[in-house]
Amino acid sequence: MTDWHGRNAVVTGAGSGLGAALARAFADAGANVALLDIDAEAAAANAKSIADAVGVTTTSARVDIGDTASVVTAAEHVRVTLGGCDILCSNVGVQQFGAIDKLTEQDWQWVLNVNVLGTVRTVREFLPMLRAGTGFRQVMFTASSSVLAPSVRLGAYQTSKFAVLGFAESLREEIGAEGIGVTVLFPGGMMTRHLESSVQARPSDLGESLLDMDDVNAMVAHQPMGDDDLATPEHAIRNLLADLEAGERYVITHGSFRPLYNERRDAIDAAFDRTEAS
Ligand SMILES: NC(=O)c1ccc[n+]([C@@H]2O[C@H](COP(=O)([O-])OP(=O)(O)OC[C@H]3O[C@@H](n4cnc5c(N)ncnc54)[C@H](O)[C@@H]3O)[C@@H](O)[C@H]2O)c1
Repeated sequence: MTDWHGRNAVVTGAGSGLGAALARAFADAGANVALLDIDAEAAAANAKSIADAVGVTTTSARVDIGDTASVVTAAEHVRVTLGGCDILCSNVGVQQFGAIDKLTEQDWQWVLNVNVLGTVRTVREFLPMLRAGTGFRQVMFTASSSVLAPSVRLGAYQTSKFAVLGFAESLREEIGAEGIGVTVLFPGGMMTRHLESSVQARPSDLGESLLDMDDVNAMVAHQPMGDDDLATPEHAIRNLLADLEAGERYVITHGSFRPLYNERRDAIDAAFDRTEAS
């Protein structure tokens, strides 16, 4: 069993939804938590309510992971206030619906800058703290079930989450021998403020984030929802701490997309079979 007391957990996107639930779960286990978000007020309010309820040390700071200087400043804030980082949850992700031929250059720039380069920046600035630590240390990435079972009208988002998985796999290969684990979380649909917070967080110089309900309807029609397909973030991470302690590489939270994933896995297996038979 991991002793979480005195461990320092850093969560990006902790102003809301999954990030807020992650911060609370680490605190409930006894860890100190740093809540980082572009919405500084939301992060501060969650940090206060966790400290009041659980009694661990919490801190919060504004970070825009789309901006290198902002990530550098937030990492320095964590180093000064908590003294280090043992568990890093790179959790921020923004959403932009749209068919491949309708997504604009700015849509792609925003989604890839935040979801992909933001992930890179987060790890780059916090990895030295993880390396300086000892004992249980883990980096967790929030990907998406859509990496395992892609849908329609999510091209920019899915591309970015495939890149998050690729980055996580690269990191695991490079730092695994240092005793720092890497876990990828694949959440299914969750009841959060994801669409609303994405609209709010998009830089104005990249234009508005437009939401066309036709895109949402097309996505739902492509992959009809089952009973277990929309969960609270708390339900989604009900087993997460045990999985992190066990150093699991992948965490599936909920959702009925396994047959769709199996179809893709089978197609890849079949490609191996064809080449081995030739
Ligand atoms: N909600 C879902 O259905 C769902 C499904 C699969 C994966 N996810 C992923 O889960 C993660 C958390 O999303 P959520 O559903 O909790 O949404 P959420 O909106 O509740 O939380 C996301 C947080 O990220 C913050 N944020 C946005 N842009 C930022 C930036 N540039 N820098 C720093 N913070 C920024 C927002 O202010 C918000 O507090 C995301 O990576 C998302 O892609 C969500």
